[in-house]
Amino acid sequence: MTQLFTEIDRVRDFLHGQHGIGLIPTMGALHQGHLSLIQRSRCQDRTVVVSIFINPLQFSPGEDYHLYPRQLERDLEFCQGLEVDAVFAPNAQEIFGLTQSTLVHPPAAMTEGLCGRSRSGHFVGVATVVTKLLNIVQPNRAYFGQKDAQQLAIIQNLVKDLNFSVEVISCPTARDNQGLALSSRNQYLTEAQKKIAPQIYASLQAAQVAFKNGEKNSDRLCQIVINHLADLPELALDYVQVVDQHTLASIECIQDSAQDFALLAIAVYLGKTRLIDNILLN
Ligand code: PAF
Repeated sequence: MTQLFTEIDRVRDFLHGQHGIGLIPTMGALHQGHLSLIQRSRCQDRTVVVSIFINPLQFSPGEDYHLYPRQLERDLEFCQGLEVDAVFAPNAQEIFGLTQSTLVHPPAAMTEGLCGRSRSGHFVGVATVVTKLLNIVQPNRAYFGQKDAQQLAIIQNLVKDLNFSVEVISCPTARDNQGLALSSRNQYLTEAQKKIAPQIYASLQAAQVAFKNGEKNSDRLCQIVINHLADLPELALDYVQVVDQHTLASIECIQDSAQDFALLAIAVYLGKTRLIDNILLN
């Protein structure tokens, strides 16, 4: 039976003295991508906690905070079906009180590029709320998807820098049959847009094929992505870039060494919806 908690003290009471806690932090509108994170935790952890909190701090003015899908009843049923022990779904007042005066600022080198260029303040919001959730739930493991690769790298770095006693587990991106990375924001897409969206991943795969055939220059790999999408005027490119998946530093030329973790990352607008995806090249 999944128990619902909306208050910090109550979820803390429930978890007090428990060992083997897995936390899956989410903003709700749960989908098959979350399912894989929850299932992974269910296999490894004695107590599985899903947090559902649409964090206002990580939305810039003009972004989709008010539109973001809210479907707690459906999410609870979803969690129930996956034998989640606890859902922690606080409101903003419970998490932030009247104000949040302390903010967690990840290093600028990790937040200013990629999504940070068009989403100023986003990763401060993410880092602050994840810090709070880790402190509230005190999990042994916390699960994040590789689709949000910049978020994942920033959280791994935060956990290391602030000595959190939690293992960050990164889980592969879940995709639909056409290859579109699953995201709660896919709900915004029209039927016509849903037919176009899988081309985002197809463009990354085209670059990966070129990489496997010997192309190691990042600009040329990015150009392959751009060319692939050029016939689709509905897709407006925000960025495409090759970066180190851990440091997020830009990579100009990918070495063959297994030490190199070259991530080809992309963000596009399809209509008003911003979609992100990435692929590991080596
Ligand atoms: O990836 C998300 O859903 C959110 O950014 C997270 C990690 C739950 C923080 O609000």
